[in-house]
Amino acid sequence: MKAVAVIPKQKDSAQVVDIDTPTISENEVLVKIKLVGLDGTDKEINGGLYGDAPEGEKLLIIGHESLGEVVKTGKSVRTVKSGDMVVATVRRPDDCINCQAGEYDMCLKGAYTERGIKGGHGYLSEYYAEDERFLVKVPKELGDLAVLLEPTSVAEKAIRMAYTAQKRVIWEPETALITGTGSLGLLTAILLRLRGLEVISVDRSDNEYKETIFSELGVTHFNAQKISLHDIPYEMGRQLDLIIEETGSSTVALHAMMIVGINGVVVLTSITGGDTRIQICADCFNQGLVLGNKAVVGSVNAHRKDFEQGITDLLAAEKQWPGLLAKLITGRYDPEEIQEALLSMKDNIKVVIEF
Ligand code: BGC
Ligand code: ZN
Repeated sequence: MKAVAVIPKQKDSAQVVDIDTPTISENEVLVKIKLVGLDGTDKEINGGLYGDAPEGEKLLIIGHESLGEVVKTGKSVRTVKSGDMVVATVRRPDDCINCQAGEYDMCLKGAYTERGIKGGHGYLSEYYAEDERFLVKVPKELGDLAVLLEPTSVAEKAIRMAYTAQKRVIWEPETALITGTGSLGLLTAILLRLRGLEVISVDRSDNEYKETIFSELGVTHFNAQKISLHDIPYEMGRQLDLIIEETGSSTVALHAMMIVGINGVVVLTSITGGDTRIQICADCFNQGLVLGNKAVVGSVNAHRKDFEQGITDLLAAEKQWPGLLAKLITGRYDPEEIQEALLSMKDNIKVVIEF
């Protein structure tokens, strides 16, 4: 069968390869891939900056945002059947206490694997095999939009982390800022609007296409090339109760910690490689966090319950803003066009590969 693989750490190596169709064991399910979404992680892997092949192998099949159809089930599989549409989770546990309790997004040891990223093959192939425990059944009415479930789960976890951290205080958030308006930023905006928050987004551009999405959602957008992040609360006339950082810029992350309001929380969800150094007033920074009782939380990957919440919210979003989610999928490519697809990400919101 056809698959898209990289030679890890080799730049621009993603290409179509021919491999054996997987076989399944008793607890496993064979899934035929329909769509796979691409994100910044795939770009970094193709850039040779990230990603590890499974132990003892040379190639890594990429792709971790999947949507596929169950075509065969092992004899002890109970939770899914042929014809079901499923999305697979990404991380696989090690033997730490968190992983053993099903919290492998909170892995303590770091010996986890991630399909399509770290030590495990991904889903950019005609078929994949997986244990039923790691599959999430998605409602048929979501159609192709279910390919947005994995990134939605990442946004759900970030929001869950914020609300969990804020149990430390009486917290009635009104205003949230999202830095970065890629697919993750826009999905986060949708989830926060569903929760009734006033949402502000900021990135470094004015984009007409995204403007229509912001106005439909009722999101206020700022261009960081025209306004300093520090001026946003003044411009809005209110404090920022929650900031979700999704640019991966460590400079933006540090500024977010400085501009978040009293008793507020910042969730950091994104990284970019490098070793950027900046000068900050460390005393002001420390004072701001302490005197404002502010919290900063890092968030990566997602728990199964974040996928489940993601399904509820994608359905709710489709009801509240019909057709809006489909506007996030702006590029479709064949597996053979993988390099072109990765390159096109800079001009797209979500690029998907269609099998
Ligand atoms: C994926 C996560 C993963 C993270 C770090 C993201 O692109 O969506 O599932 O944990 O990369 O590898
Ligand atoms: Zn672990």
